[in-house]
Amino acid sequence: MIVFRGFAAFRRLLHMALAAAPAVIVVVGAPLLAQTPAQNGPGFNGQRPWMNATLSPDQRAAMVVQQMTLDEKIGLLHGLGQAGSIPPGPYAALSNGGAGFVLGVARLGIPIIQMSDAAYGVRSSAMNGRYSTALPSNLAAASSWDPEAACRYGALIGRELRAQGYNMSLGGGVDLARELRDGRTFEYQGEDPLLAGTMVGNRVKCEQAQHVIGDIKHYAVNDQESGRNEVNAIIDERALRETDLLAFQIGIEIGKPGAVMCAYNGVNGEFSCQNKHLLTEVLKRDWDFPGFVLSDWNGTHSTIKASAAGLDNEEPTAIFYGDAFKKAVLGGQISQAELDDHVRRILRSEFAAGIVDYPVRKSVVDVEADFKIARSIAEQSMVLLKNRDRVLPLDSAKLRSIAVIGEHADSGMISGGGSAQVDPPGSYEPLWQAQVWFPGAPLQAIRACAPGLPVEFNSGSDPAAAAALAARSSVAIVFAHQWTSEGMDLPNLSLPDKQDALIEQVAKANPRTIVVLETGTAALMPWLDQVSGVVEAWYGGSKGADALAALLFGKVNFSAKLPITFPRSEADLPHPHLLTPPVRREGAAPAIPGADAGLTFNVDYNEGLKVGYKWYDAEKKPVLFPFGFGLSYTTYRYSDLKVTPGKPAMVRFTVANTGSREGAEIAEVYAALPASAGEPPKRLVGWSKVHLKPGESREVTVAVDARELSVYDSAGGGWKMTPGSYTFLVGSSSRDLPLKQEMSLR
Ligand code: BGC
Repeated sequence: MIVFRGFAAFRRLLHMALAAAPAVIVVVGAPLLAQTPAQNGPGFNGQRPWMNATLSPDQRAAMVVQQMTLDEKIGLLHGLGQAGSIPPGPYAALSNGGAGFVLGVARLGIPIIQMSDAAYGVRSSAMNGRYSTALPSNLAAASSWDPEAACRYGALIGRELRAQGYNMSLGGGVDLARELRDGRTFEYQGEDPLLAGTMVGNRVKCEQAQHVIGDIKHYAVNDQESGRNEVNAIIDERALRETDLLAFQIGIEIGKPGAVMCAYNGVNGEFSCQNKHLLTEVLKRDWDFPGFVLSDWNGTHSTIKASAAGLDNEEPTAIFYGDAFKKAVLGGQISQAELDDHVRRILRSEFAAGIVDYPVRKSVVDVEADFKIARSIAEQSMVLLKNRDRVLPLDSAKLRSIAVIGEHADSGMISGGGSAQVDPPGSYEPLWQAQVWFPGAPLQAIRACAPGLPVEFNSGSDPAAAAALAARSSVAIVFAHQWTSEGMDLPNLSLPDKQDALIEQVAKANPRTIVVLETGTAALMPWLDQVSGVVEAWYGGSKGADALAALLFGKVNFSAKLPITFPRSEADLPHPHLLTPPVRREGAAPAIPGADAGLTFNVDYNEGLKVGYKWYDAEKKPVLFPFGFGLSYTTYRYSDLKVTPGKPAMVRFTVANTGSREGAEIAEVYAALPASAGEPPKRLVGWSKVHLKPGESREVTVAVDARELSVYDSAGGGWKMTPGSYTFLVGSSSRDLPLKQEMSLR
């Protein structure tokens, strides 16, 4: 229904546009253009030379800009509302039901941009009577350290977006996990810029290959939800460039996203969406980003300042970038060239992603094929953290019975909330902040792997009853969860709802207890010594339960490794306490003199370069589980490190599978820079995921780019190597690096 209503309105609009602009009547006959396949034929070249797909996106965009009226240009600079709150008017029916949409220029063949949140799957599908595959959370997928898996992740989302009528994704979160209590940690890719940037870049690259505009967000330092619209992140330039911005830089280099979404928060005194340093000096000048910047939803704060700073598009409505923008252009406060630059960037991204040449057509995806992808990514995402006395893999032949304990273990696996939320099958649009459990149920998946074996369930609401079940079972699997969502932060990293006490009681009754964590970030584990096994399953998505069961029973080997450090306690974090907005009297003066009005409190990231493992290394703090850690059912041996200097430096070593199971080892390469560089003790500079049969060994080569060995020189601008002694370290986690080679580099 929506298709036809939208289409009719689209045609009405086109007629309105034609009536208003008789000079463009030459294109009559084109109303269907945005709905039909690519029109690159010679007949069209004459009238619409920009439809020639052999021209570059820049050439094509420049040609279209020349044809556009002022109103058409302004029309591209803002959204027209978000599903559920679209202002009534001629355009309302054009929405596809997503987070935003931008009017096209039908007479020129420029389609409407239909945006959808698509962090780990396409959002709001139920409302449209559709269904989306939920992939494992972004943090989960980062645990695979597998760029090819990231590519499959993005391609799946791109396909499902188009099938549901969208041509732009709002996924692609990559802010570094400086604050583990951040409710959106599950939407991001962990604490290391190289890993995070590589994963998000590959996701976006393959998403865009499906002809949707990709997006990377939230630029920048969007590291907590508490006071997200008024928090000012303070961070020095070098730390910014080497950590948080580097993740974006790498992601943009690899993925070439059409769009970057600026964040709600301020950075060093200016809101991200009007921060000239971030948007123009870094993104558009230093990184040469050719695409457009769109604001986070209602994250625009001005017209002239934001435009001059480099914001190209306001979402989801036109408070600053509609009439006010037009007035500023007519009044000469915003130049024609500045306006045209915004417009050109948006058009360029449309051509580059192919949304003009490949208009969206709704269709039905191969649901089972996408389930298979979701499952295989989940299998690569779940991390085995502890396996005492080889309690895993479970061998049904050697067990009498299994206890499955935990709220919802009989119904599904939890997912991350907020704008990332994917609708579970059969649901209508769930509440924005409600716990959503995705079927299938772990209980059923476990039963399916243990035919004939009694598998009993207890919700854990009565810990004594759960312990009694554990006591009479061969093994107990406790499912524990920590729900997180946009719009909230965790007060701490402890499991909520007395789940720690439940685990302790069950483990006391049966030490052969395995804890499966479904969390969006790190968790504290006061019971760690008492249990035999721990699996971090994150938010597993549509096929999480099947993937988990396959891993628990050893049908698939564990290979994932942590993309964030699990600390021993909040006291060990760079910021032991989460900062929240001050309570201020209405009308009180801005809390931060000299900063944008509206920024009320600072979070000073004075740990600077020391994000994640770099902090614990520098502070010599023990951790619960280190960055890069994850066990397998087999064992690996590292040997024969040989580093050849050069640009890139080549790091060669051998990995052998010394166990009896086939496996995939993520072999990690770190470098310690010369002391005079003033860096944390080491940084990740590369890795390779090596698939090995039992007994097999392989020489691995990791190329290390010069930038990975450089520091950012904020005085001179740019990356510079510090001459001196570099140590390359290779091994299976950031704290298990058996191979070491030192060399002098310049
Ligand atoms: C979020 C964005 C999201 C947008 C549209 C905002 O609240 O911060 O990540 O893309 O809403 O739903």
